[in-house]
Amino acid sequence: MAFTHYTVKKIVHGNGCIKQIAAEVKNLKCSRAFIVAGPTVAKIGLQKPLEDALTEGGVDWQLYAKAEVEPSMDSIKACSDAAKKFKADVIIGFGGGSALDTAKAASVLLTNKGPINKYFGMNLVPNPALPMILIPTTAGTGSEMTNISVLADTKNGGKKGVVSEYMYADVVFLDASLTVGMPPRVTAMTGVDAFVHAMESYCGIAATPITDALDLAAMKLIGGNIRQAYANGGNLAARDAMLYGSALAGMGFGNTQNGIIHAIGTTLPVECHIPHGLAMAICSPFSVGFNYIANPEKYAVVADILRGEDRSGVMSVLERASDVEDAFRSLLNDLDIKTGLGNYGVKKEDLPASADRAFAAKRLLDNNPRKATRDQILALLEANLEG
Ligand SMILES: [Fe+2]
Repeated sequence: MAFTHYTVKKIVHGNGCIKQIAAEVKNLKCSRAFIVAGPTVAKIGLQKPLEDALTEGGVDWQLYAKAEVEPSMDSIKACSDAAKKFKADVIIGFGGGSALDTAKAASVLLTNKGPINKYFGMNLVPNPALPMILIPTTAGTGSEMTNISVLADTKNGGKKGVVSEYMYADVVFLDASLTVGMPPRVTAMTGVDAFVHAMESYCGIAATPITDALDLAAMKLIGGNIRQAYANGGNLAARDAMLYGSALAGMGFGNTQNGIIHAIGTTLPVECHIPHGLAMAICSPFSVGFNYIANPEKYAVVADILRGEDRSGVMSVLERASDVEDAFRSLLNDLDIKTGLGNYGVKKEDLPASADRAFAAKRLLDNNPRKATRDQILALLEANLEG
């Protein structure tokens, strides 16, 4: 069987590296940078060091602070129209996953005819996107490292992805000093999401030796630092480790796929407005409890990482693997994240429809190590309403 591994072209990393942004813009033979960010980030001025570094380096820039949390097709058009008006020759995505996904899709529309929904699916974008620099300010989605932009399909409902190798960033900046202002709750939720990306990729069917190396390193960095980053947001060493972990997870799962946690977590009732990372956290313990018998060797490693100790000499593989659900619950307990779907407004009568939607998430379930039926998913949901 043949595999292909993709990744971004260049990574600039280390605390304070944002100061090198103008040099990287010039390396790309560009001079007009269009910054795409969300309104919250712009309101607190998180992008100020980026703007200052561009100005000092003689790069013209404009800030577009209207990236939506779940970007609609219209919002992508508005963003690319504004970039066109500014005559941008490089797009800089700055913020969490939604801002980066907006930047990626807008870059595509600047060199390809719209509307963006023409490109929902795999590799349907005909021309390379405008040069693109991505700068994450959360340690969570890993979107800076992937070739997918997840958008709200305002025509047909639900979320759809534009997937194209043209959407890999030309340059990614990993500067943990930009993440220290993230509130504890967001740190916990996005950090768990990043861990889940690495774990679902590592234990999944599409894993390769290359993604295993990335995902293992990601889980160790996140598992070993998420509590510290949650407890003290100013802990720069923990923030640094989390940012590397999230990026490495993106490099891993971007080449494999997620699994049942994302299948169930992304199909919980929309009216409950459960943030993505929180949904992943709630669905993780019972999902790993379901999965571990399909790949005990790998879940034994995951459980050890979550416990912070190598127990390979003192416990059997199955003993360690069967501890993975409790180990996950222990992490969530330390992060003050309650499990139990009922705590977040999910009702018993919602569950059959959620199970139907999760079971239809074929792309995700195909990568899950344990095959799940619709009724097994429903039973898992029912058993975890309380908690
Ligand atoms: Fe996720």
